[in-house]
Amino acid sequence: MAYIPTRQLKPGMILSEDVADVNGRLLLAKGQAIGANHLTVFKMWGVPEVAVDQDEDVPADPAPALDPAVMRRVAEGLQPAFADNDLTHPAVAEIFRQAILHRCRKGTVQRTAAADRPVNAVSSPTSDGTARRRSLRTRDIQLPEIPTLIFRLNDTIADPFSSADDIAQVISKSPGLSALLLKIVNSAFYGFPSRIDSVTRAVAIIGSKEVSALAVGITTLEVFKDIPKTVFDMQAFTHHSLACGVLARILAASGSIRNTEQMFVSGLLHDIGRLVIFRYFSKEAAQMLASPTGGSLYDREKRVLGFRHTDIAVDLFEKWKFPVALTQNVIFHHRPVSAQDPVKAAIVHLADMIAHSLGEGKSGEWRIPVLDIAAWEKLRLSPRALATMIPQALHHLGFLMTVFP
Ligand SMILES: [Fe+2]
Ligand SMILES: [Fe+2]
Repeated sequence: MAYIPTRQLKPGMILSEDVADVNGRLLLAKGQAIGANHLTVFKMWGVPEVAVDQDEDVPADPAPALDPAVMRRVAEGLQPAFADNDLTHPAVAEIFRQAILHRCRKGTVQRTAAADRPVNAVSSPTSDGTARRRSLRTRDIQLPEIPTLIFRLNDTIADPFSSADDIAQVISKSPGLSALLLKIVNSAFYGFPSRIDSVTRAVAIIGSKEVSALAVGITTLEVFKDIPKTVFDMQAFTHHSLACGVLARILAASGSIRNTEQMFVSGLLHDIGRLVIFRYFSKEAAQMLASPTGGSLYDREKRVLGFRHTDIAVDLFEKWKFPVALTQNVIFHHRPVSAQDPVKAAIVHLADMIAHSLGEGKSGEWRIPVLDIAAWEKLRLSPRALATMIPQALHHLGFLMTVFP
Protein backbone atom coordinates (compact mmCIF):
# COMPACT_ATOMS: atom_id res chain seq x y z
CA MET A 1 0.00 0.00 0.00
CA ALA A 2 1.18 3.54 -0.74
CA TYR A 3 -0.21 7.02 -0.04
CA ILE A 4 -0.46 9.03 -3.26
CA PRO A 5 -1.27 12.77 -3.44
CA THR A 6 -4.66 13.17 -5.17
CA ARG A 7 -3.25 15.21 -8.04
CA GLN A 8 -0.84 12.38 -8.87
CA LEU A 9 -3.48 9.63 -8.98
CA LYS A 10 -4.13 7.81 -12.25
CA PRO A 11 -7.41 6.20 -13.33
CA GLY A 12 -7.31 2.45 -12.78
CA MET A 13 -5.42 2.54 -9.47
CA ILE A 14 -7.04 0.35 -6.79
CA LEU A 15 -7.95 1.84 -3.42
CA SER A 16 -6.40 0.21 -0.33
CA GLU A 17 -8.54 2.25 2.10
CA ASP A 18 -12.00 3.86 1.96
CA VAL A 19 -12.07 7.50 0.84
CA ALA A 20 -14.56 9.76 2.64
CA ASP A 21 -15.64 13.39 2.28
CA VAL A 22 -15.37 16.11 4.94
CA ASN A 23 -18.38 14.75 6.78
CA GLY A 24 -17.24 11.17 6.68
CA ARG A 25 -19.55 10.26 3.79
CA LEU A 26 -18.04 7.45 1.75
CA LEU A 27 -16.82 8.63 -1.66
CA LEU A 28 -15.25 5.38 -2.84
CA ALA A 29 -14.79 2.08 -1.07
CA LYS A 30 -11.60 0.12 -0.52
CA GLY A 31 -10.91 -2.35 -3.33
CA GLN A 32 -12.56 -0.20 -6.03
CA ALA A 33 -10.74 1.04 -9.13
CA ILE A 34 -10.39 4.82 -9.36
CA GLY A 35 -12.14 6.28 -12.40
CA ALA A 36 -11.63 9.71 -14.02
CA ASN A 37 -14.87 10.94 -12.38
CA HIS A 38 -13.57 9.90 -8.95
CA LEU A 39 -10.51 12.08 -9.42
CA THR A 40 -12.79 15.09 -9.88
CA VAL A 41 -14.85 14.10 -6.83
CA PHE A 42 -11.74 13.69 -4.62
CA LYS A 43 -10.47 17.11 -5.69
CA MET A 44 -13.91 18.66 -5.10
CA TRP A 45 -13.99 17.38 -1.54
CA GLY A 46 -10.44 18.35 -0.72
CA VAL A 47 -9.10 14.81 -0.33
CA PRO A 48 -5.31 15.41 -0.15
CA GLU A 49 -4.09 11.84 -0.66
CA VAL A 50 -5.46 8.31 -0.84
CA ALA A 51 -4.07 4.85 -0.15
CA VAL A 52 -3.73 2.65 -3.22
CA ASP A 53 -2.38 -0.82 -3.94
CA GLN A 54 1.15 0.07 -4.89
CA ASP A 55 4.52 -0.76 -3.43
CA GLU A 56 6.00 2.66 -2.83
CA ASP A 57 4.71 6.10 -1.93
CA VAL A 58 4.98 8.68 -4.64
CA PRO A 59 7.08 11.54 -3.35
CA ALA A 60 5.25 14.82 -2.86
CA ASP A 61 5.74 17.37 -5.63
CA PRO A 62 9.33 18.50 -5.75
CA ALA A 63 9.86 22.08 -4.74
CA PRO A 64 9.87 24.42 -7.71
CA ALA A 65 13.21 25.89 -8.63
CA LEU A 66 13.88 28.57 -6.07
CA ASP A 67 17.10 30.42 -5.52
CA PRO A 68 18.98 28.42 -2.84
CA ALA A 69 20.56 31.61 -1.51
CA VAL A 70 17.12 33.18 -0.99
CA MET A 71 15.84 29.99 0.62
CA ARG A 72 18.78 29.97 3.00
CA ARG A 73 18.17 33.61 3.91
CA VAL A 74 14.47 32.93 4.53
CA ALA A 75 15.30 29.84 6.62
CA GLU A 76 17.81 31.79 8.71
CA GLY A 77 15.33 34.61 9.24
CA LEU A 78 12.59 32.21 10.25
CA GLN A 79 14.62 30.02 12.57
CA PRO A 80 14.45 32.33 15.66
CA ALA A 81 10.63 32.30 15.49
CA PHE A 82 10.80 28.47 15.60
CA ALA A 83 13.26 28.52 18.52
CA ASP A 84 10.80 26.90 20.93
CA ASN A 85 9.87 24.16 18.44
CA ASP A 86 11.75 20.92 17.85
CA LEU A 87 12.87 21.20 14.26
CA THR A 88 14.02 17.58 14.29
CA HIS A 89 10.42 16.38 14.69
CA PRO A 90 9.20 15.27 11.24
CA ALA A 91 5.95 17.31 11.42
CA VAL A 92 7.71 20.49 12.59
CA ALA A 93 10.42 19.96 9.95
CA GLU A 94 7.76 19.66 7.20
CA ILE A 95 5.90 22.76 8.43
CA PHE A 96 9.20 24.66 8.52
CA ARG A 97 9.97 23.48 4.97
CA GLN A 98 6.51 24.54 3.74
CA ALA A 99 6.89 27.89 5.49
CA ILE A 100 10.20 28.53 3.71
CA LEU A 101 8.80 27.51 0.31
CA HIS A 102 5.70 29.64 0.77
CA ARG A 103 7.60 32.70 1.91
CA CYS A 104 10.07 32.31 -0.98
CA ARG A 105 7.23 31.99 -3.50
CA LYS A 106 5.54 35.05 -2.04
CA GLY A 107 8.83 36.82 -2.56
CA THR A 108 9.03 38.11 0.95
CA VAL A 109 12.22 37.52 2.83
CA GLN A 110 11.09 36.87 6.36
CA ARG A 111 12.31 39.30 8.90
CA THR A 112 13.57 37.65 12.04
CA ALA A 113 11.20 37.16 14.93
CA ALA A 114 13.09 39.85 16.77
CA ALA A 115 12.65 42.27 13.89
CA ASP A 116 8.90 41.69 14.05
CA ARG A 117 8.77 43.11 17.51
CA PRO A 118 8.66 46.80 18.10
CA VAL A 119 11.14 47.74 20.80
CA ASN A 120 9.88 50.31 23.20
CA ALA A 121 7.71 49.94 26.25
CA VAL A 122 8.34 47.23 28.80
CA SER A 123 5.24 46.21 30.69
CA SER A 124 5.19 45.23 34.30
CA PRO A 125 3.30 42.28 35.67
CA THR A 126 0.12 43.12 37.53
CA SER A 127 -1.61 41.19 40.25
CA ASP A 128 -5.20 42.26 39.73
CA GLY A 129 -5.97 39.91 36.84
CA THR A 130 -8.85 38.17 38.57
CA ALA A 131 -10.42 41.53 39.43
CA ARG A 132 -10.02 42.67 35.82
CA ARG A 133 -11.69 39.56 34.48
CA ARG A 134 -14.42 39.86 37.11
CA SER A 135 -15.01 43.42 35.98
CA LEU A 136 -15.74 42.02 32.53
CA ARG A 137 -18.21 39.60 34.04
CA THR A 138 -19.93 42.14 36.30
CA ARG A 139 -20.42 44.49 33.41
CA ASP A 140 -18.23 47.34 34.68
CA ILE A 141 -16.90 46.54 31.28
CA GLN A 142 -19.61 44.97 29.22
CA LEU A 143 -18.81 42.20 26.81
CA PRO A 144 -20.39 42.86 23.44
CA GLU A 145 -23.91 41.60 22.88
CA ILE A 146 -24.45 38.70 20.56
CA PRO A 147 -25.65 39.90 17.14
CA THR A 148 -29.43 39.40 16.91
CA LEU A 149 -29.07 37.32 13.80
CA ILE A 150 -26.82 34.78 15.56
CA PHE A 151 -29.17 34.70 18.53
CA ARG A 152 -32.09 33.90 16.20
CA LEU A 153 -30.00 31.41 14.25
CA ASN A 154 -28.91 29.52 17.37
CA ASP A 155 -32.55 29.46 18.55
CA THR A 156 -33.73 28.13 15.19
CA ILE A 157 -31.04 25.44 15.10
CA ALA A 158 -31.89 24.36 18.65
CA ASP A 159 -35.62 24.11 17.83
CA PRO A 160 -36.33 20.46 16.87
CA PHE A 161 -39.30 21.57 14.77
CA SER A 162 -37.38 24.05 12.63
CA SER A 163 -36.64 23.19 9.03
CA ALA A 164 -33.74 23.99 6.69
CA ASP A 165 -36.04 26.62 5.21
CA ASP A 166 -36.43 28.36 8.58
CA ILE A 167 -32.64 28.56 8.91
CA ALA A 168 -32.28 29.95 5.38
CA GLN A 169 -34.94 32.55 6.17
CA VAL A 170 -33.08 33.80 9.25
CA ILE A 171 -29.82 34.14 7.26
CA SER A 172 -31.59 35.79 4.33
CA LYS A 173 -32.58 38.66 6.66
CA SER A 174 -29.03 39.91 6.18
CA PRO A 175 -28.37 40.49 2.47
CA GLY A 176 -24.67 41.16 3.11
CA LEU A 177 -24.20 37.91 4.99
CA SER A 178 -26.23 35.96 2.42
CA ALA A 179 -24.14 37.32 -0.46
CA LEU A 180 -20.87 36.49 1.33
CA LEU A 181 -22.10 33.02 2.23
CA LEU A 182 -23.04 32.30 -1.37
CA LYS A 183 -19.62 33.45 -2.58
CA ILE A 184 -17.95 31.08 -0.12
CA VAL A 185 -20.15 28.04 -0.84
CA ASN A 186 -19.66 28.59 -4.57
CA SER A 187 -15.87 28.66 -4.19
CA ALA A 188 -13.52 25.75 -4.75
CA PHE A 189 -13.45 25.48 -0.95
CA TYR A 190 -16.72 23.55 -1.27
CA GLY A 191 -16.17 22.42 -4.81
CA PHE A 192 -19.74 22.02 -6.10
CA PRO A 193 -19.84 21.71 -9.87
CA SER A 194 -23.08 23.68 -10.30
CA ARG A 195 -23.80 27.15 -8.99
CA ILE A 196 -25.67 27.53 -5.70
CA ASP A 197 -27.80 30.63 -6.15
CA SER A 198 -29.80 30.90 -2.93
CA VAL A 199 -29.24 30.42 0.79
CA THR A 200 -32.12 27.90 0.80
CA ARG A 201 -30.30 25.81 -1.79
CA ALA A 202 -26.98 26.20 0.09
CA VAL A 203 -28.67 24.88 3.24
CA ALA A 204 -30.21 22.01 1.27
CA ILE A 205 -26.92 21.04 -0.38
CA ILE A 206 -24.22 21.58 2.21
CA GLY A 207 -26.45 21.23 5.26
CA SER A 208 -27.93 23.58 7.83
CA LYS A 209 -25.15 22.95 10.36
CA GLU A 210 -22.39 23.90 7.92
CA VAL A 211 -24.20 27.03 6.67
CA SER A 212 -25.08 28.08 10.22
CA ALA A 213 -21.50 27.58 11.37
CA LEU A 214 -20.26 29.77 8.51
CA ALA A 215 -22.83 32.46 9.33
CA VAL A 216 -21.90 32.43 13.02
CA GLY A 217 -18.17 32.71 12.26
CA ILE A 218 -18.54 35.54 9.78
CA THR A 219 -20.96 37.56 11.92
CA THR A 220 -19.01 37.11 15.14
CA LEU A 221 -15.80 38.56 13.71
CA GLU A 222 -17.82 41.53 12.44
CA VAL A 223 -18.61 42.50 16.06
CA PHE A 224 -15.01 43.58 16.55
CA LYS A 225 -14.32 45.19 13.22
CA ASP A 226 -14.22 48.69 14.76
CA ILE A 227 -11.03 48.02 16.76
CA PRO A 228 -8.78 50.94 15.76
CA LYS A 229 -5.71 50.26 13.66
CA THR A 230 -3.61 52.00 16.30
CA VAL A 231 -4.44 49.07 18.62
CA PHE A 232 -4.29 46.23 16.09
CA ASP A 233 -4.59 45.75 12.36
CA MET A 234 -7.96 43.98 12.06
CA GLN A 235 -7.32 43.07 8.45
CA ALA A 236 -4.21 41.15 9.49
CA PHE A 237 -6.17 39.59 12.34
CA THR A 238 -8.99 38.46 10.01
CA HIS A 239 -6.34 37.08 7.66
CA HIS A 240 -4.83 34.99 10.50
CA SER A 241 -8.32 33.85 11.57
CA LEU A 242 -9.28 32.82 8.03
CA ALA A 243 -5.97 30.99 7.56
CA CYS A 244 -6.59 29.06 10.75
CA GLY A 245 -10.21 28.32 9.72
CA VAL A 246 -9.26 27.00 6.29
CA LEU A 247 -6.38 24.93 7.64
CA ALA A 248 -8.59 23.50 10.41
CA ARG A 249 -11.20 22.41 7.93
CA ILE A 250 -8.70 20.83 5.55
CA LEU A 251 -6.81 19.08 8.36
CA ALA A 252 -10.12 17.78 9.74
CA ALA A 253 -11.24 16.58 6.33
CA SER A 254 -7.97 14.74 5.88
CA GLY A 255 -8.01 13.12 9.30
CA SER A 256 -10.53 10.69 10.64
CA ILE A 257 -12.80 13.50 11.83
CA ARG A 258 -16.54 13.32 11.45
CA ASN A 259 -18.88 16.35 11.49
CA THR A 260 -16.30 18.86 10.40
CA GLU A 261 -18.73 21.77 10.04
CA GLN A 262 -17.55 23.35 13.25
CA MET A 263 -13.86 23.15 12.40
CA PHE A 264 -13.80 26.13 10.02
CA VAL A 265 -15.62 28.33 12.51
CA SER A 266 -13.48 27.02 15.41
CA GLY A 267 -10.38 28.11 13.52
CA LEU A 268 -12.00 31.39 12.52
CA LEU A 269 -12.85 32.28 16.13
CA HIS A 270 -9.92 30.65 17.94
CA ASP A 271 -8.31 33.96 19.01
CA ILE A 272 -11.54 35.92 19.59
CA GLY A 273 -10.54 36.49 23.23
CA ARG A 274 -7.65 38.57 21.94
CA LEU A 275 -10.13 40.92 20.28
CA VAL A 276 -11.80 41.44 23.66
CA ILE A 277 -8.37 42.30 25.09
CA PHE A 278 -7.63 44.69 22.19
CA ARG A 279 -10.97 46.42 22.70
CA TYR A 280 -11.21 46.62 26.50
CA PHE A 281 -7.56 46.61 27.55
CA SER A 282 -6.01 48.55 24.71
CA LYS A 283 -3.36 50.17 26.95
CA GLU A 284 -2.17 46.83 28.29
CA ALA A 285 -2.42 45.34 24.79
CA ALA A 286 -0.13 48.05 23.45
CA GLN A 287 2.33 47.32 26.25
CA MET A 288 2.27 43.58 25.58
CA LEU A 289 2.57 43.95 21.83
CA ALA A 290 5.47 46.36 22.17
CA SER A 291 7.43 44.42 24.73
CA PRO A 292 10.75 43.09 23.48
CA THR A 293 11.15 40.46 26.19
CA GLY A 294 9.22 37.94 28.16
CA GLY A 295 8.36 35.00 25.95
CA SER A 296 5.20 34.47 23.99
CA LEU A 297 2.23 36.85 23.96
CA TYR A 298 0.14 33.98 25.36
CA ASP A 299 2.29 33.98 28.50
CA ARG A 300 2.54 37.76 28.68
CA GLU A 301 -1.25 37.99 28.77
CA LYS A 302 -1.26 36.01 32.00
CA ARG A 303 1.53 38.09 33.49
CA VAL A 304 0.21 41.50 32.51
CA LEU A 305 -3.57 40.98 32.70
CA GLY A 306 -3.82 37.95 34.95
CA PHE A 307 -5.79 36.03 32.35
CA ARG A 308 -5.35 34.80 28.81
CA HIS A 309 -7.33 35.32 25.62
CA THR A 310 -8.65 31.77 25.97
CA ASP A 311 -10.10 32.61 29.43
CA ILE A 312 -11.98 35.56 27.97
CA ALA A 313 -13.33 33.36 25.18
CA VAL A 314 -14.97 31.22 27.89
CA ASP A 315 -16.81 34.28 29.25
CA LEU A 316 -17.80 35.52 25.81
CA PHE A 317 -19.09 32.18 24.54
CA GLU A 318 -20.89 31.56 27.84
CA LYS A 319 -22.64 34.91 27.49
CA TRP A 320 -23.47 34.20 23.86
CA LYS A 321 -24.56 30.63 24.66
CA PHE A 322 -22.38 29.16 21.93
CA PRO A 323 -22.26 25.36 21.61
CA VAL A 324 -19.98 23.61 24.09
CA ALA A 325 -18.08 21.77 21.34
CA LEU A 326 -17.18 25.03 19.57
CA THR A 327 -16.22 26.65 22.87
CA GLN A 328 -13.99 23.70 23.76
CA ASN A 329 -12.18 23.78 20.41
CA VAL A 330 -11.46 27.48 20.91
CA ILE A 331 -10.51 27.63 24.58
CA PHE A 332 -8.16 24.65 24.41
CA HIS A 333 -6.28 25.54 21.25
CA HIS A 334 -3.11 26.23 23.26
CA ARG A 335 -3.38 23.04 25.36
CA PRO A 336 -5.45 20.70 23.21
CA VAL A 337 -4.93 17.47 25.12
CA SER A 338 -6.95 18.92 28.04
CA ALA A 339 -10.06 19.41 25.87
CA GLN A 340 -13.12 17.16 26.02
CA ASP A 341 -12.45 16.32 22.39
CA PRO A 342 -8.65 16.58 22.17
CA VAL A 343 -8.56 15.64 18.48
CA LYS A 344 -10.66 18.63 17.39
CA ALA A 345 -8.80 21.01 19.71
CA ALA A 346 -5.54 19.55 18.33
CA ILE A 347 -6.66 20.43 14.81
CA VAL A 348 -7.20 24.08 15.77
CA HIS A 349 -3.86 24.02 17.61
CA LEU A 350 -2.03 22.66 14.56
CA ALA A 351 -3.87 25.03 12.20
CA ASP A 352 -2.83 28.00 14.38
CA MET A 353 0.79 26.84 14.44
CA ILE A 354 0.85 26.39 10.65
CA ALA A 355 -0.86 29.75 10.00
CA HIS A 356 1.83 31.48 12.09
CA SER A 357 4.58 29.52 10.35
CA LEU A 358 3.35 30.56 6.92
CA GLY A 359 3.13 34.20 7.99
CA GLU A 360 -0.50 34.39 6.84
CA GLY A 361 -1.99 37.23 8.87
CA LYS A 362 -1.19 38.26 12.43
CA SER A 363 -2.61 37.61 15.89
CA GLY A 364 -0.09 39.69 17.81
CA GLU A 365 2.01 36.62 18.59
CA TRP A 366 5.61 36.98 17.47
CA ARG A 367 6.71 33.40 18.15
CA ILE A 368 5.54 30.35 16.30
CA PRO A 369 3.40 28.47 18.86
CA VAL A 370 5.08 25.27 20.02
CA LEU A 371 3.61 22.20 18.36
CA ASP A 372 2.25 19.94 21.08
CA ILE A 373 3.63 16.56 20.04
CA ALA A 374 1.06 14.59 22.07
CA ALA A 375 -1.68 16.52 20.23
CA TRP A 376 -0.01 15.91 16.87
CA GLU A 377 0.10 12.18 17.58
CA LYS A 378 -3.62 12.15 18.33
CA LEU A 379 -4.28 13.34 14.76
CA ARG A 380 -2.55 10.34 13.18
CA LEU A 381 -1.57 12.44 10.18
CA SER A 382 1.57 11.77 8.21
CA PRO A 383 4.00 14.71 8.03
CA ARG A 384 4.12 14.10 4.27
CA ALA A 385 0.39 14.77 3.99
CA LEU A 386 1.09 18.32 5.21
CA ALA A 387 3.02 18.91 1.99
CA THR A 388 -0.27 18.45 0.12
CA MET A 389 -2.67 20.01 2.62
CA ILE A 390 -0.77 23.26 3.22
CA PRO A 391 -0.63 24.35 -0.46
CA GLN A 392 -4.29 23.33 -0.80
CA ALA A 393 -5.23 25.50 2.20
CA LEU A 394 -3.21 28.41 0.81
CA HIS A 395 -5.09 28.13 -2.46
CA HIS A 396 -8.48 28.38 -0.69
CA LEU A 397 -7.23 31.12 1.62
CA GLY A 398 -6.23 33.20 -1.40
CA PHE A 399 -9.80 33.03 -2.63
CA LEU A 400 -11.43 33.70 0.76
CA MET A 401 -9.23 36.76 1.27
CA THR A 402 -10.72 38.23 -1.88
CA VAL A 403 -14.35 37.84 -0.72
CA PHE A 404 -14.04 38.74 2.96
CA PRO A 405 -14.88 42.35 3.73
FE1 LIG B 1 -4.39 31.75 20.52
FE1 LIG C 1 -3.90 32.26 16.56
